Amino acid sequence: MADKNPFPGENNTGHFWDDNLRELANPPPRWWMIGFYVSILWVLVYSVLYPTWPTLESFTKGVLGWTQIGEYQKGVDEVEAVRAEFEQKIAGMTAKEILADEGLSAYTEASAKVLFGDNCAACHGGGGQGGPGYPALVDDDWLWGGSIESIEQTITLGRKGIMTAHGKILKPEEVNGLAQAIVDGKPASSPLFLQKGCIACHGMDGKGLTVLGSANLTDAIYRFNPEGDETLLDSVKYTIMYGVNDASEPKSRQAEMPKFGDRLSKDDIKKLSVVVFKLGGGQ
Ligand code: HEC
Ligand code: HEC
Repeated sequence: MADKNPFPGENNTGHFWDDNLRELANPPPRWWMIGFYVSILWVLVYSVLYPTWPTLESFTKGVLGWTQIGEYQKGVDEVEAVRAEFEQKIAGMTAKEILADEGLSAYTEASAKVLFGDNCAACHGGGGQGGPGYPALVDDDWLWGGSIESIEQTITLGRKGIMTAHGKILKPEEVNGLAQAIVDGKPASSPLFLQKGCIACHGMDGKGLTVLGSANLTDAIYRFNPEGDETLLDSVKYTIMYGVNDASEPKSRQAEMPKFGDRLSKDDIKKLSVVVFKLGGGQ
């Protein structure tokens, strides 16, 4: 073929197309060849150091003894070591002391989010915003008191406020009058508030008593909010007529905070108390 080569002296393969299109046999550039050999070397070194080649039963382990699960475990151990330090401190402190310690309360707030999500969010909402029949935990309006101790007690022992149904005791216009006074934010302005015994549980001024978990009726924050196309007046009238947790009234509102004392550890309850306190600007 050499004699037919129209480009003598050129390092081509002797393949030609369209007169002058031809395949050359130049060696690849030097830098490329160096990269090529280095990558072969890399594979060899790597396969000696790290797990690489499959064998019939398993694979070559590499002289460094590195494993993916080992790397993961190391990470977990590091996190655990940091956590253990906090957890140990928490075990020996009261919820109030944890709250007072800036670092610990920040740790608690971050680490107890999952606890809140798993145990409380179904009723109180993911951010503690509350829901139909479930009080909001993000405001500073408390049925049972917002001190860290009260909150801890609420979570440990549960709560069940009881308001007797008044539908059979009051005339419809009396229910109306009381409901209107409450919606106006001045329950005590209605003489019925005293006459019909509301003050026994809600206090003279209607601001509620935390020992009974009776709601503050003057602050325009409602524990039972209107549902569907109900007006606020309707929903207040409903509470007055059918009460809350009144076993003798089938239409009574149901509202029970379950107790967690037998389900969660003391430390978890302390943490949740701190979380709830911080959510709601406890007091
Ligand atoms: C099954 C629903 C349910 C679950 C789960 C639940 N709660 Fe409650 N919670 C309630 C109800 C209902 C009330 C109101 C009780 C009442 O009206 O007396 C309440 C009240 C409270 C209160 C008192 C609020 C106040 O204004 O004084 C706190 C604090 C609270 N819950 C925290 C929690 C925490 C923390 C968890 C998770 C460990 C939790 N709850 C899980 C239903 C629930
Ligand atoms: C035996 C005690 C008791 C008596 C008497 C009582 N209440 Fe209540 N009331 C409660 C409790 C406890 C709650 C809160 C229940 C809960 O949240 O679980 C409540 C809640 C309410 C609510 C709901 C407030 C909200 O935030 O949604 C209204 C309205 C109300 N009461 C009005 C009255 C009126 C009016 C009277 C008098 C006719 C009255 N109550 C008498 C204990 C009582």
